[in-house]
Amino acid sequence: MSVKIAVLVSGGGTNLQAMIDAWKAGNLQCGEIALVVSSSETAYALKRAEQNGIESVALTRSAYKTPEDYDKALLNVLLERGIELVVLAGYLRIIGAEVLEAYRGRIINIHPSLIPSFCGDGYYGLKVHEAALKYGVKVTGATVHYVSEVVDGGEILLQKAVPVEDGDTPETLQKRVMEQAEWLILPEATSILCGKIAREREMRV
Ligand code: GRF
Repeated sequence: MSVKIAVLVSGGGTNLQAMIDAWKAGNLQCGEIALVVSSSETAYALKRAEQNGIESVALTRSAYKTPEDYDKALLNVLLERGIELVVLAGYLRIIGAEVLEAYRGRIINIHPSLIPSFCGDGYYGLKVHEAALKYGVKVTGATVHYVSEVVDGGEILLQKAVPVEDGDTPETLQKRVMEQAEWLILPEATSILCGKIAREREMRV
């Protein structure tokens, strides 16, 4: 039986695309991308889901009174579909306590730096690469980590280093980090966890 994965997005969804490509190429072991959840109704990632016949749900924060209500709605969407693994791929909202509790050890996130550098509150999107260039590091990269209560603070699963080159702009660096690290290690970490979840399931039977 497959391991049902939900990919949570907010924007363009190139990491989602990398996940879909890995899945279609048979590289997610028993993983199946069963759902895409977007925090924005206009995210291009929703188009990618549609083009690939994947169910999608847009959950916008403004449709809910409190962050807790939003979190409950997200949890229901995940549980109703039997989701076992949650992958944050450019998802710009903080995961609330209820979802964290229900999916502890089964939510991962991709961050575009080598944690613990350039991470935590306020470090997202191009800001991460701006900070890396400002500091003058010669190597950066990407990290896949478990999601915990601490922003970008959960246990690290995989990391990959990428060189910074002379003349880099935040945009050129972002592109290199995506191409050489993010799009590789996010599907790889997902595949590893799918194998682990399937083995744990077998042991329970
Ligand atoms: C990626 O750089 C990811 O690491 C960060 O947000 C960006 C999302 O890009 N968390 P995309 O939507 O996957 O293209």
